[in-house]
Amino acid sequence: MKEVFLIKGLAGARKLVGEIPVKGAKNAALKAMASAILFSDKLVMKNVPEIEDVNRMGDLLVDLGATIEHKGNGVLEISTEEMYDGKMSDEIAKRLRASIVLTGPLLSRFGTVHFPHPGGCVIGARPIDLFLEGFKKMGATVAISGEKGKAHYVISAKGGKLRGAELFFRNQSVTGTETFMMAGVLAEGETVIKNAALEPEIEALADFLNGCGAKIHGAGTPTITITGTQKLKSKGKAYVTTPDRIEAGSFLVIAALLGKDVTITKCEPKHLESLIELLRYSGVPIKVGKNTITVKIDSKKKISLNAVDVKTHEYPGFPTDIQAPMVVYLTQAKGDSLVFETIFEGRLNYVEWLNRMGAEITMFDPHRVKISGPTKLNSKELESPDLRAGLAFVIAGIVAKGESVIHNVYNIDRGYEKVEERLQAIGVSIKRAYMADSDIV
Ligand code: EPU
Repeated sequence: MKEVFLIKGLAGARKLVGEIPVKGAKNAALKAMASAILFSDKLVMKNVPEIEDVNRMGDLLVDLGATIEHKGNGVLEISTEEMYDGKMSDEIAKRLRASIVLTGPLLSRFGTVHFPHPGGCVIGARPIDLFLEGFKKMGATVAISGEKGKAHYVISAKGGKLRGAELFFRNQSVTGTETFMMAGVLAEGETVIKNAALEPEIEALADFLNGCGAKIHGAGTPTITITGTQKLKSKGKAYVTTPDRIEAGSFLVIAALLGKDVTITKCEPKHLESLIELLRYSGVPIKVGKNTITVKIDSKKKISLNAVDVKTHEYPGFPTDIQAPMVVYLTQAKGDSLVFETIFEGRLNYVEWLNRMGAEITMFDPHRVKISGPTKLNSKELESPDLRAGLAFVIAGIVAKGESVIHNVYNIDRGYEKVEERLQAIGVSIKRAYMADSDIV
């Protein structure tokens, strides 16, 4: 028995109406959970999404000796007081790319960390060279065993304590920045990260840690300086997870395609400027409120969606995580659009599935495609290769004519909390079902 989504498409009709709320950001919550290792008291987190990746990170922390209480309504309490070493479970860590962020706090607290090459979505090579080099610069030794792809790492800080160092990232890395920011908190002396990533989740984490005793300066800019200190104390202050900009952006794409009057609520529009700008340029009327984004289209006025070129870029540029939903959007826009995925080389692998639905997408190389639109999409059975492409397939299913079946729902549940219920609330016909072989039960 496999879980699937069944979607009755709107055949392009602009019919969606209502409000759709955004949950807390996956990629913020996972790093804040890891930061619990830096605390001498309990870390309280709010607005944590109920998703598979949060469960996996929780499993990893519990395996390391942490206690986690799910208080309901997005509240988590994590205590790492009983943690005794930095040996991660290979089995769990291999299934979660974000497991790599645990290396920073574990190494700075315990002086040693054991971990496998992290797994996660199949979107490219996903190397960890920046991590290994950074820890070496902070005075650690790195031992690698096992063959490529299945490697196991043991990193040990000389004398049991990481030392501050100056690091320059050849690539701006989100998890790299977060990992070394946390490593610096309990290290000796000063750590400087240059060419740091600028994603808003990084600044939110730094602000919270600073409120609990950390000394981090410059988060949100390309140079971050961390002065090592003692274990942090939250003294009951809660970390409140920022709204998920990727989820909000994907809902905005749905509203842009099929919204009659749709408002995305509980979001942070200023984190989505690149997408909003691009959609407006393409012809979508978008109204931005303090924590809302609305697409409202007068049924008497016909609007035209026009082709636009998209180049993914580190924040505040166009997010790679919204590239797949945007490609679905562009299949409905008039003219030729070029999409250049600059971050991950495996992140356009899903386009063949859209062509099978009727899209006209030409792949020039693993990083670049041309989308010629508009094209009518027909329903299909789709199997998503990764979490973001998974949601893009849901969007394609909503646009298409007929009933689509989306397999590999687990991939979508990794990042989006009960997405079908929220989509139903704006009029999408989507339901979760079980499929045994070819029969739907
Ligand atoms: N890179 C290296 N060496 C390293 C690390 C990264 O060369 O040691 C390269 C990568 O190959 C890539 C670039 O640097 O070309 C940027 O990768 P980054 O390290 O920023 O990616 P990440 O931190 O692993 C996070 C998000 C991704 C998101 C990217 C880019 C988490 C857990 N993951 O990944 O989110 O796509 O930043 O914004 O925060 C997702 O949520 O579906 C997802 C994949």
